[in-house]
Amino acid sequence: MLNFLCHIPTRVLFGRNQIEQLAEEVKRYSRRILVVTGRESVKKYGIYQRAAGILKKAGITYFDLSGIKPNPLLSRVYEGIELCRKENIDFVLAVGSGSVIDTAKTIAAGVKYKGDVWDFYLKKAKPRDCLGVGTVLTLAAAGSETSVNAVITNEKTQRKLAFGSFLIRPKFSILDPVYTFTVPRIHSAAGIVDIMSHVFEQYFSPTRSAGVQDRISEAILKTCIHYGPVVLKEPKNYEARANIMWAGSLALNGFLGLGKIEDWATHRIEHEVSAIYDLTHGIGLAIIFPNWMKYVLNEEAVPMFSDYGNNVWGLGRNKNPLEISKQAILKTKGFFAGLGAAVSLKEAGINEERLEEMSKKAVSFGELGEVKKLNDRDVLNILKMSL
Ligand code: NZQ
Ligand code: ZN
Repeated sequence: MLNFLCHIPTRVLFGRNQIEQLAEEVKRYSRRILVVTGRESVKKYGIYQRAAGILKKAGITYFDLSGIKPNPLLSRVYEGIELCRKENIDFVLAVGSGSVIDTAKTIAAGVKYKGDVWDFYLKKAKPRDCLGVGTVLTLAAAGSETSVNAVITNEKTQRKLAFGSFLIRPKFSILDPVYTFTVPRIHSAAGIVDIMSHVFEQYFSPTRSAGVQDRISEAILKTCIHYGPVVLKEPKNYEARANIMWAGSLALNGFLGLGKIEDWATHRIEHEVSAIYDLTHGIGLAIIFPNWMKYVLNEEAVPMFSDYGNNVWGLGRNKNPLEISKQAILKTKGFFAGLGAAVSLKEAGINEERLEEMSKKAVSFGELGEVKKLNDRDVLNILKMSL
């Protein structure tokens, strides 16, 4: 295990009606805030009205930035930064899912930066200061409610990039599984794939000695495999939604990757696909992850894939590890397909036309991954396998 610092300070208020704590949480930081929301779901299902009512009653002044779409856009971030500066806002509350939270985080960092906030994504600058961010989560998927990352699409350059800073990690997150009862089937499925993929990116690693993190990773994967299909069959099953929601936060709060080298190649490849085709992130991962596994399957990868096959899928310790690894890849692909996710780029309406462009963009900051270092030709091969 490598050296690490563990500091995961987000206050998570988990369970039914935890939104009742919202005013108290916000008042620790501010009485003048920006509320960021998505397109329609939060209003349609009353979550926005509930939050707004609580803020109003507590005398907290709030301004709205609504209509944030999936694969959120940089232009809306600029709009939010301007509004915060104009109205002297000093806290950002996201009420919604990953795209809303990532917009809120980027606004919070951008307000305190004199240059263009996109510099953080281009790795030209790092934030030194940031407004506080809080979240009321409505979909279990991206893990942004506890993570140090944000992902934004620059619509002018068709780049979807991520940046990370401890400063943007939410101060608090309210996780009420009931809010996820209304998530449509396809987004529930994409969310489960995304959560499992976050675990994979940290679990499939050249560091093979972080047993605590790896056994916890396996428990989260098994939880997704058990409760994922339940959530799709019974969208209002509280226990299933609660387990998936907590799995989503634990998968990306940084704990699983402590003391380990992390991979993240598949995410970088997927981001290039959704930057151009506006694909749902989890669907892109369902297509690409099994193909990445196939592509990197070599002598070094066999022990980690066969551990996964044995400990998560129970494929049997006495068989040949290479066979178990291959079966584990098939199991993963089959599970994603069973959730109703697309299994090929073509099925998602994407053809070969721009694969080369995506491959080149994916490696614009250098080779990807750690399990196997990938250059643009490797990325192209994986994308071709995903067609
Ligand atoms: O726009 P509305 O009407 O709100 O509908 C949304 C949207 O269509 C809907 N939805 C959300 N909560 C709902 C609901 N519908 C009914 N009931 C509810 N309670 O769900 C749709 C998808 O929303 P989105 O925010 O895009 O989903 P998700 O949470 O999966 O976030 C995806 C984004 O997060 C990024 C992805 O790349 C993508 O841009 N990621 C962020 C990460 C991070 N910050 O750490 C890491 C991830 O790997 C990921 O890359
Ligand atoms: Zn993801």
